[in-house]
Amino acid sequence: MPSPTVPQSIQIVPSILPADFARLGDECAALAEAGVDRIQWDVMDGVFVPNLTFGPDVIAACRPYAGVMFEAHLMVVNPDPMLSAYVDAGCEMLIVHAESVTHLHRTLSRVAELGAQPAVAINPATPVESVAHVLDLVDMVLVMTVNPGFGGQRYLATMEPKIAELRRLVSQSDSTGASGAGIDIEVDGGISAETVGPAVAAGANVLVSGSALYRYAEGLAHGVADLRSSAEAARRP
Ligand code: DX5
Repeated sequence: MPSPTVPQSIQIVPSILPADFARLGDECAALAEAGVDRIQWDVMDGVFVPNLTFGPDVIAACRPYAGVMFEAHLMVVNPDPMLSAYVDAGCEMLIVHAESVTHLHRTLSRVAELGAQPAVAINPATPVESVAHVLDLVDMVLVMTVNPGFGGQRYLATMEPKIAELRRLVSQSDSTGASGAGIDIEVDGGISAETVGPAVAAGANVLVSGSALYRYAEGLAHGVADLRSSAEAARRP
């Protein structure tokens, strides 16, 4: 059982949003080559968030191009009818927003029944308490550090106390072994070499970066390595 005070391993996860949508398969191959730990697909329906991106068929077309895990970040109003389609498309993890479903416990249970790893996301205004009773069902909790919908937004440092609160909550459940054992905490939005440290120090260990990662003039591999070293440097002893 992991130590309750030391988060799980650092994971560097690119958001596919800044990639060249005309060459998504090759872009996935380049990300895998650059050493990312997984790829996040920012699924947006134009209703839950004011942007529209891609569905399962696009993800399925890219699946053969990269051997790393795909996670689908479902920024959609009604994910339940589409869960199996994202699993069939090759997503090993589905991230459901707590704000997007009426029966969160049932939806996360369904993700597990489909053979995928369940994860839950909370927007900046949503309290940690909203996921307290589903920690036994999830492998990860995503704390949004921007209001979802677009890349390139400013990191919300005000989310750091919330990340720390969630890490304490997970650690408490870890120590009892009742639930939450080994849960990852992911952050998404405005994550760069400057902001990754405070996020990790607060308790995050899975770090999603889109625009900052793609901004590295030295290329994706350098960016992944820089983000990883910045994150590792910030890990609590
Ligand atoms: C939600 C999107 C973004 C994206 C990362 O708005 O899901 O958070 O993943 O965006 P950056 O890293 O460019 O802030």
